[in-house]
Amino acid sequence: MAIDLPFELIDRLRVAKRIVAFTGAGISAESGLSTFRDKQTGLWAQYRPEDLATPQAFRRNPRMVWEWYEWRRGFVAKVEPNPGHHALARIEAARPGFFLVTQNVDGLHARAGSRNLVELHGNIRRTICFEHRHLAESWEPVEEPPPRCERCGGLLRPDVVWFGEALPENALRRAQEAAAHCDLFLSIGTSTLVYPAAELPFIAGSNGATVIEINPDFTPLSKLADFVLREKAGVALPAIAATMLE
Ligand code: APR
Repeated sequence: MAIDLPFELIDRLRVAKRIVAFTGAGISAESGLSTFRDKQTGLWAQYRPEDLATPQAFRRNPRMVWEWYEWRRGFVAKVEPNPGHHALARIEAARPGFFLVTQNVDGLHARAGSRNLVELHGNIRRTICFEHRHLAESWEPVEEPPPRCERCGGLLRPDVVWFGEALPENALRRAQEAAAHCDLFLSIGTSTLVYPAAELPFIAGSNGATVIEINPDFTPLSKLADFVLREKAGVALPAIAATMLE
């Protein structure tokens, strides 16, 4: 289903030189992955965040946290990037000044071919040890999960940013820099609730960038955005890519 973009937006898309795309769980919804806050299917609907995605939760019940992420990794392994992910990869290939910042940990952007990106909240497919963050490529099976780090014997965990943990410094700095210097900022499929990532569209807007929100629902960014496309990412992004690649 193609959509008609507003003429003024088409002009902005055509002249944009430094483009930042900022994505959240909504861009992976059409791949079949639950988002965090959709009530009826959202992951949190079944669990309380403080019971799972925090260092305290892991210390309290490492097996439950490990097994929840194993369950999520199983889902991620079974799904494919969707037209929204592929559209962003096409824009990157055509526009040298394109930069992708994702909050998602599912690795779908890289699988769709995006290269110039930062993963602000880590990647669920990467595993590290809790004590020293040693990268773990493989581990011995264990009776009582989580498995152990082969270098230090510490418990293994997913390399994702939990509530209360710092974001990877270099990734956040690059994202803030890109937001402050871009002329077009696409905010896609995010509830714009979780900081510091959620500040990025506001940094872009306050530095004069054209801000476009792509989200079927209202968010705190909606009233600030220059354009709001109440569309699914898998519908809006192919239309945007087609306009930019004409
Ligand atoms: N296309 C575009 N947007 C969509 C679609 C879709 N097909 N389906 C849902 N959305 C929107 C929802 O309306 C919602 O605003 O995507 C947004 C998803 O919001 P969240 O579930 O809050 O996900 P996100 O914004 O990525 O959460 C940010 O919070 O839980 C932490 O670390 C986690 O990275 C995550 C962060």
